[in-house]
Amino acid sequence: MQACHVALIGATGAVGREILQVLEEREFPLRDITLLASARSEGTRLEFRGHHRAVRLLTKEALTGVDIAIFAADVETSRDYASHAVAAGAVVIDCSGAFRHDPQVPLCVPEVNALPPHQGMVATPHSLTVQTVLALAPLHTAASLKRVVIATYQAVSGMGREAMEEFDQQLRDLLNFRAVQTGAFPHQLAFNCVPQCGDFLDNGYTSEEMALVDELRRILAVPALPITATAVRVPLMHSHGAAVCVETARPLSPDAARDILASAPGLQVEDDTKRLSYPLPVHANGQDAVFVGRIRADQSVPYGLHLWIVADNLRKGAALNVVQVAERLLAS
Ligand code: A2P
Repeated sequence: MQACHVALIGATGAVGREILQVLEEREFPLRDITLLASARSEGTRLEFRGHHRAVRLLTKEALTGVDIAIFAADVETSRDYASHAVAAGAVVIDCSGAFRHDPQVPLCVPEVNALPPHQGMVATPHSLTVQTVLALAPLHTAASLKRVVIATYQAVSGMGREAMEEFDQQLRDLLNFRAVQTGAFPHQLAFNCVPQCGDFLDNGYTSEEMALVDELRRILAVPALPITATAVRVPLMHSHGAAVCVETARPLSPDAARDILASAPGLQVEDDTKRLSYPLPVHANGQDAVFVGRIRADQSVPYGLHLWIVADNLRKGAALNVVQVAERLLAS
C-alpha cells in the first residue's frame, strides 16, 4: 500500500482518539498525519507513534494536500467542511452521520459490502448498525431474512466526550448523596436506563432507531425488509449490546447459525450457556471482534432465531471500521 497523508478531523474526540490508536496499531502506511479540531483544542498535544503532535484548527486551508480526510467530529462540521476536502482532492471517510442517507455516498462495512466506485466520499454507519449487520448479513445469505426486531443497550461513549464526562459526574454525585445534573442526557442515566437515543420523530421512533433500520436495509440491500427497533441508553461507559430476533424465510437451526456466524469475518461466537459463557460489554471493551451469543430458536415463529450481539462501539463500531475503509481505499 502506498503511504498517504491523512487528516483526522475531531482528533480530540472519543472516536478521533480511538482512530489514532487503531491507525497506530495497524501500522497504517502514513506519509503525514494532520490532527484537526475546533478552536477549543487548538494546540493540544496528542501522542501518535511515540511523538506528540499539536492539534490544529480546522480550516479549509488545513485540508489541502491531504489524501484521506477522516471526519470524526459532529454532523455540522462534516456538512461544512467535507465538500472542501473533496474539492481539494482528498477522499473523505465520514463517520459523523451527515451522509449516511445520501444515495451518492456509499455506506460501507468492509466485511459485508464491497466498496463500490465513489465520488470522493464514503460514509461509515452508526456503531450499532456495524455490529448488527456483521451478524445479520451471513444469516441473510443462508436463510433470507423476513423480519428483524432489535432492542439496543447503548453505552454512553457513543454520545461523545461531553456525555462521558457528565455520566462520570452523575455517578460521583449519586455516590456522594448530591443531586444529579443533566445536560447531554434527557434524564439521570447513572443507575438508570433511558429509552431514548437521539431525538423523537413524528412516527414515534427516535432518530437513532430509524437510522438503524435505514442503514441495515441499505447495507443488506433489502430496501423493504421489515425491521423495528427500540434503542435504550444504559449506564455503561463502553460497548453496546443488541438483543436481536430474526425471522427467516427458510429454516435455520441454532447449531447451523452458530457455525455460520463462527466462520463469518469480524465475528466471534461466545455461546456456551452450560459454562455461563455469552458476550459481555466488559469483555468486549478494547476488542476488535463483534461477539455473538445466546443463539437459540425463537419459539414464537416457525423459523426464527434470537441473538445477543455485543461490541466495543468506539472500536469496530467506529474507529476500526473507518480504518478498514481507509485500507480498502489505499488498496484500490
Ligand atoms: P474539540 O476538542 O475542539 O471540541 P466528541 O464526539 O467526543 O464530543 O468529539 C467531537 C470532536 O469534534 C472533538 O474532537 C471536537 O473538537 C470536534 N469538533 C467539534 N466541533 C468542531 C468544529 N466546529 N470544528 C472542528 N472540530 C470540531
